[in-house]
Amino acid sequence: MALLIRGGTVVTAEQTVRADVLCADGRIAAVAPDLAPPKGAEVVDAGGQYVMPGGIDPHTHMQLPFMGTVASDDFYTGTAAGLAGGTTMIIDFVIPNPKQNVLSAYREWRGWAEKAVADYSFHVAITWWDETVAADMETLVREHGVNSFKHFMAYKGAIMADDETLVNSFSKALSLGAPCTVHAENGELVYTLQDRIFRAGITGPEGHPLSRPPMVEGEAANRAIRIAEVLRVPLYVVHVSCRQALEAVTRARNEGQRVFGEVLAGHLLVDDSVYRDPDFTRAAAHVMSPPFRSREHQEALWRGLQSGNLQTTATDHCCFCAPQKAAGRDDFRKIPNGTGGIENRMEVLWHHGVGAGRLTMNEFVRVTSTNAAQIFNVYPRKGSVAAGADADLVVWDPAASKTISAKTHRQNVDYNIFEGMAVKGCASHTISAGKLVYARGELRVERGAGRYVNRPPFAPYYDALKRQADLAKPSAVARPR
Ligand code: URP
Ligand code: ZN
Ligand code: ZN
Repeated sequence: MALLIRGGTVVTAEQTVRADVLCADGRIAAVAPDLAPPKGAEVVDAGGQYVMPGGIDPHTHMQLPFMGTVASDDFYTGTAAGLAGGTTMIIDFVIPNPKQNVLSAYREWRGWAEKAVADYSFHVAITWWDETVAADMETLVREHGVNSFKHFMAYKGAIMADDETLVNSFSKALSLGAPCTVHAENGELVYTLQDRIFRAGITGPEGHPLSRPPMVEGEAANRAIRIAEVLRVPLYVVHVSCRQALEAVTRARNEGQRVFGEVLAGHLLVDDSVYRDPDFTRAAAHVMSPPFRSREHQEALWRGLQSGNLQTTATDHCCFCAPQKAAGRDDFRKIPNGTGGIENRMEVLWHHGVGAGRLTMNEFVRVTSTNAAQIFNVYPRKGSVAAGADADLVVWDPAASKTISAKTHRQNVDYNIFEGMAVKGCASHTISAGKLVYARGELRVERGAGRYVNRPPFAPYYDALKRQADLAKPSAVARPR
C-alpha cells in the first residue's frame, strides 16, 4: 500500500524544503510539493513537522553474550525501541570468541537478528588471527555484504585484539576495500589499573572510571590511528569519549588521514558523577566502557561534533538489568559493561543539539543518519529523502515534549541513563520500508520485518590506497643492486 506524508518540511543533510513524500513498494516514489494521494493510500499529516531520513545507529549490541550474561534487549525489542525514537536502521556487531570460527559466529548472529523489526547490518569483530580468519574476512566481504571490521583494543583475556591482530586484520581489510573500526582503550593498562584499584580496596562502581582514565583511551586511539596511517587503511574510532582521543582523531584528519570518529549520545550528556552515587544499582547501571567523563570532556565532544571532526552519533546500545549488573556487587570488574539509549538518541540530540543552538537541523540529519550511511556505504539507499531511496523516514514534531523515563520507555531494561531528562522535539511517526510502524506513541511493528542490509566494499578508492601501500613496501623502495 502507498503512503503519503503530506504537508511537512523535508530536512536532509543538504537542504530544507517544503515537500510531500510519497512511498510505494518500500521505496520513496516522489518528493515534491502538493502530491495527490494515490487511491487507497495511507496519509500521514506532517503539518508543522519535519520529514527526515530515519536515524541510523551504527553501534548497537542486541542480545550480546558478554561478561557471563546476555544483553537484555534482543533484536526484536531493541529495534522496536529504536523505531519509537525514529531510528530505522542499526549496524550491530558479530563478536566471535577467540578461536571461534568467524563465519560460524556471523551465521549465529544472522539467526538471532531474524526477529528484528527494522533494517540491520553487521560489523564483524576480529578477535584473533590466523589464515582462516583472513579467508573468512574475504568471504564476508565478497558473499555476505559485510564491509567493516571491528577491533577491541580492550577486554584483555576475552575479545581484545593485540597489535599483531590489528596489523594483520587492517592489512587484509584494506585489500578487501573495507574500513576498520576500533574500540580504543589500552587493555593492558586497564587490566593493571583495575588490579591496583581493587587491591587498594576500591571495589564499587567508582573504581570503574578510575581504571579507565582518558589517557588510556587517548593512547589506544593514537596507536590505532598510527597503525592505520602506516598501512594506509581508513579507520573509524567508535565511542570517542574524551579530549585525548578526539585530539588524536583531529590531528590525523588535519594531516589528511582518512579517520572518522563516532560519539555516543550518552558521552555527550551524562557525566562521571554517576559513578559516585552511593546506590550500587544506580551507579552500576552506568558502568560502560569507555566510562562517562567529566564536563570538560563533554564540551570537547560537542565541539568535535560541531566542527565535523566527529561525524556520527551512536548509542552502543548494550543493556543489562539490575540483577545482571549485581554480578559485580563486590567487584566492579565483574559488572557487565553496557548501557542503553537507542530509543532516545535522536530526541536528546535534537534537544541538546538543535534546541540548544549547537547543531543546525541539516547537521542533525548528517550526524544521526547521512554520515553513517556514507561511511558504511549504504548511501543514498539509506540516509536520504529522495526518489528511489528506501522509505525509512521519521516525521519529527519540534513542538512535542516529553520526560524520559525507564517507567515509560520501550527498551527492555530497568534503567534509563537519561532518566528525568525533559526534551522538546520527538518522533511523531516512523516509517520503515514504506510502512507506518510508529504513530504518536503506538508501535505497529511486525516481528521479522527488518531486512539484512548488504554493504558493498569501497573498490576504486581502496584500490588507490592499496597501490600506495604497495609502493611503500620494502621490495618497492629497495635500491637496485
Ligand atoms: O561498555 C560497553 N561499551 N559495552 C559494549 C561493548 C563495547 O565495548 O562496545
Ligand atoms: Zn566498545
Ligand atoms: Zn560497543
